Amino acid sequence: MRRVKIKDILTNQPIGQDVNVKGWVRTFRNNQFIALNDGSTISTLQIVADREKEDESLLKKITTGAAISATGKVVESQGKGQSVEIHANKIEVLGEADPEKYPLQPKRHSLEFLRDIAHLRFRTNTFSAVFRVRHAAAFAIHKFFNDRGFVYLNTPIVTGSDAEGAGEMFQVTTLDLNDVAKDDSGAVDFSQDFFNKATNLTVSGQLEAELGALALSEVYTFGPTFRAENSNTSRHAAEFWMIEPEVAFADIHDNMDLAEAMLKYVIKHVMKQCEDDLTFLEQRLINEEKQKPQNERSDMALKEKMAFVLENDFQRLTYTEAIDILRNSKPNKKKKFKFPIDGWGADLQSEHERFLVEKHFKKPVMLVDYPKEIKAFYMRMNDDNKTVAAMDILFPGIGEIVGGSQREERLDVLTSRMKDFDIPEHEMDWFLDTRRFGTCPHAGFGLGFERFVMFLTGMGNIRDVIPFPRTPGNAEF
Ligand code: 4AD
Ligand code: MG
Repeated sequence: MRRVKIKDILTNQPIGQDVNVKGWVRTFRNNQFIALNDGSTISTLQIVADREKEDESLLKKITTGAAISATGKVVESQGKGQSVEIHANKIEVLGEADPEKYPLQPKRHSLEFLRDIAHLRFRTNTFSAVFRVRHAAAFAIHKFFNDRGFVYLNTPIVTGSDAEGAGEMFQVTTLDLNDVAKDDSGAVDFSQDFFNKATNLTVSGQLEAELGALALSEVYTFGPTFRAENSNTSRHAAEFWMIEPEVAFADIHDNMDLAEAMLKYVIKHVMKQCEDDLTFLEQRLINEEKQKPQNERSDMALKEKMAFVLENDFQRLTYTEAIDILRNSKPNKKKKFKFPIDGWGADLQSEHERFLVEKHFKKPVMLVDYPKEIKAFYMRMNDDNKTVAAMDILFPGIGEIVGGSQREERLDVLTSRMKDFDIPEHEMDWFLDTRRFGTCPHAGFGLGFERFVMFLTGMGNIRDVIPFPRTPGNAEF
C-alpha cells in the first residue's frame, strides 16, 4: 500500500479508507495511542493500536523516537484534539529508539541543549516548524524573482576576490600547511597553490552578479557566503545564505522598491503557507518571553508583527536625517548608548539601528546615502561627493537585514574610489571591463537569509534558523 503523508490525511480526512503512514513516534500512551509525526506538518496523527491483538514485544518497541509504519482505516476520532485517527491493523517498527539513550524525551528542552544535538533537533516541533518556514521563504524568493523575469545566476563559491573589501575571508588552499611553499622574498608562493593564486570562500556574489546583470538585465543569486568575522553575536554566522538581486537600468529608488516588494511578498507567502507552524512558533515565543522582564518582551505577537510589516510602508530616510534623530534622542542625551552619537560620519551600531526601528519609527526602516568612508568601494558617489547611494534595511528585533546600493558605473570615479581603498586595478580588470564596455546605471542588494528567517520565525538566535550553524569555535556536524 502506498504511503500517505500525515498532512494529507489531516487535510483531506479520507474517512473509511485504508492507508499506510510512516513516521516517528512522539508519544505512546496506555499501550494504545501513538502520536505520530512525519515532518509534513507540525501536527501529529493519532494511531490507535489494537493492544489485544498486537504482540507484547512489538508494543514495547513503540517508544518516543522510534520509526514505525502503520496501516489501517481512517476513522473519525472520538477523542479530543484531533479530527481523525487511524485504527491500525498492522504496525511495524522500522527503527527502534532505546528510551534509556534517546536524548529527545517528550519534555521541554532548552534551545542550547538542542543546538548540541542539532543532528536530532529536526524532530522537535520548534525546529521542524523553523525549517518548514525556511523552506517556504526560500521557495517564495525564487518564485518572486522568477515571476518578474529574473535569471537565477550561480556565482562562484571559491574566488580570488574580496567583494566587500573587508578582509574577512576564509582562505582556500591545497598548500601543505606544515611546509608552505615560499617565494624568494619569503612570502607564501601561491603560484604553487591549486589555482596558481590565493583564493578564498566568497563573502558575496555581487561582483559576478553585476557581470550577469549587464547582459541579462535582471539576475539574482541565492547561495552560501562566508565571513571570518570573529563576532560571537546572535546575528552573525561564519556561513550564511544570501540573496543578491542585481538590476540593470535601475537606480537606488528602484532598488528600495524591489527590496520592499520582495520582503513583503515572502512574508505574505509564508503567512499563507505556514499558518500552523506560525501559530506554534508564536506561542513558543510568548512562553519564552514570559521569562523576561516586561520591558524586554515584544509588544506584538509574531503574526501580528508580520501583518504589521506587510501593511505599512517602510520608513525611508537618509543617514543624515537618522543621525539628527539619534543625536537628539533620549538615550543619547542620557548617555545610554554604548557608542554615543556626537557627529556626522559615525557608523551606526546595532543599538542605534534598533532605537530607530523599535523605539522611534516602530516599523522597518530604510536608510540611504551613507558617508562614503564607511561603505564599500563599488557604491555610487552622490553629487555631494560626501555620500554614496547605499541603502540598509533595518528590521525590528534584528537590525540590518538588507544591505545594498546603486553601483558606481562611471569608470573614472570607480577607479579613483579603488585607489582610495588600495584595491589594485589589475586584480579587478574583469570587473572594470563592464564599465569600459556598455556600462549603465545599475543597482542591487543582499538579503541575509538567516536574519530574515529569524524575523519570520521569532527565533532570537541565528544558530537556530540554519540547520548546522558555523560560528567561531564551532563547526560540528
Ligand atoms: O551588507 P552586506 O555585507 O552586503 C553585501 O555583501 C553586498 N555585496 C550585498 C549586495 O549589495 N549585493 O551583507 C548583506 C546582508 C546583511 O544585510 C546581513 O543581513 C547579511 O547579509 N549578513 C550576515 N548574516 C549573517 N551572518 C553574517 N556574518 C552576516 N554578514 C552579513
Ligand atoms: Mg551591510
